[in-house]
Amino acid sequence: MSSAMSTESLVSGLMEHALSAACAASVRAAVTLGLPEALGDAPATADELATAVGADQAALRRLLRSLTSYGVFAEERTGAFVHTGKSRALREDSPNSIKYLVLWCTEPWLWSLWGNLDESVRTGSEVFTRAHGRPFYEHLHTEWPRSAQIFDRAMTQQTRLSANAIADMLPMAGAGTVADVGGGQGLVLGTLLERHPDVRGCLLDLPGVVADADPRLRPGGALADRVRLVPGDVLDEISVEADVYLFKNILGVDADASVRILRNAMKAARPGARMIIVENFVDDGPGEKLASALDLRMLLVIGGQKHTRAGLLGIAERAGLTVRNVRPVDSSLHMIETTVPG
Ligand SMILES: C[S@@+](CC[C@H](N)C(=O)[O-])C[C@H]1O[C@@H](n2cnc3c(N)ncnc32)[C@H](O)[C@@H]1O
Repeated sequence: MSSAMSTESLVSGLMEHALSAACAASVRAAVTLGLPEALGDAPATADELATAVGADQAALRRLLRSLTSYGVFAEERTGAFVHTGKSRALREDSPNSIKYLVLWCTEPWLWSLWGNLDESVRTGSEVFTRAHGRPFYEHLHTEWPRSAQIFDRAMTQQTRLSANAIADMLPMAGAGTVADVGGGQGLVLGTLLERHPDVRGCLLDLPGVVADADPRLRPGGALADRVRLVPGDVLDEISVEADVYLFKNILGVDADASVRILRNAMKAARPGARMIIVENFVDDGPGEKLASALDLRMLLVIGGQKHTRAGLLGIAERAGLTVRNVRPVDSSLHMIETTVPG
């Protein structure tokens, strides 16, 4: 009896794993249909929601059944639906919205790449280039402007969750200049410059990304006179001298490329300059499932990875930096403080 039960739960457990694309697709469909915005503070029936988003009533009820099973929306005893914390976080107007992050994690082009994960594991390399003819970032910025915009917004939404904590911790004492390397749209840089009115900053990222920087940093923006936008490839060169360099979530490349990025910055830096790495450790974070999903996605798309704590410290040391301190920023990020030796 107990062995029959365990076979049953084993089969249903494995089936749930094998069908987990339905979960990702349900969350994406909720966003693309506009369901989180269609439901306000008052409960609404499935039929009312179907009318509001222009969907088939029976099919929307089925989608809601799937979503509520994951805690995205809840069904009341009356049969009406209400928001949960998860469904509210999908609304564009939520203060901690992760709408674009969810879209980014479920972009349609990604689905076919997942089918080639075995190839990535066999070769240890990305599969994007073979599928699309060019490496990911090149293709993203030339062929998929909408996807590029979703990526930049997703990174900004993710960073909004930690920008204040990073600004609180960043060792800025005596610093006159800060460079946000691969800083995306520059949310952390903007936060830092608002806090430190005497500090000047540089935002380095790919040309398409800095062109769409945080409006505070762009010409005419409130902080623009203290900011230099530096479009370029940090794997080629980092030609900015600063007292503090921030590398937040840009060392998700392989170890050699990570060392190269740090060394490129060191070429321009003075001895004593602070180089601050903010990253997720794959072996010390909010959960193995989330960390390893991100890690595999990076392998698949850019041949990159989420590093272990020891791996990242090794990268900093291989680059020639002196590691001073490692501290948690929040439940998923760590800050590694290093300096350029004299
Ligand atoms: C994961 S995002 C992190 C963005 C930002 N630091 C944050 O935490 O919100 C990685 C960033 O690195 C940038 N990037 C990737 N490869 C780059 C390269 N070769 N040169 C310059 N920037 C690059 C991307 O455009 C993106 O903005």
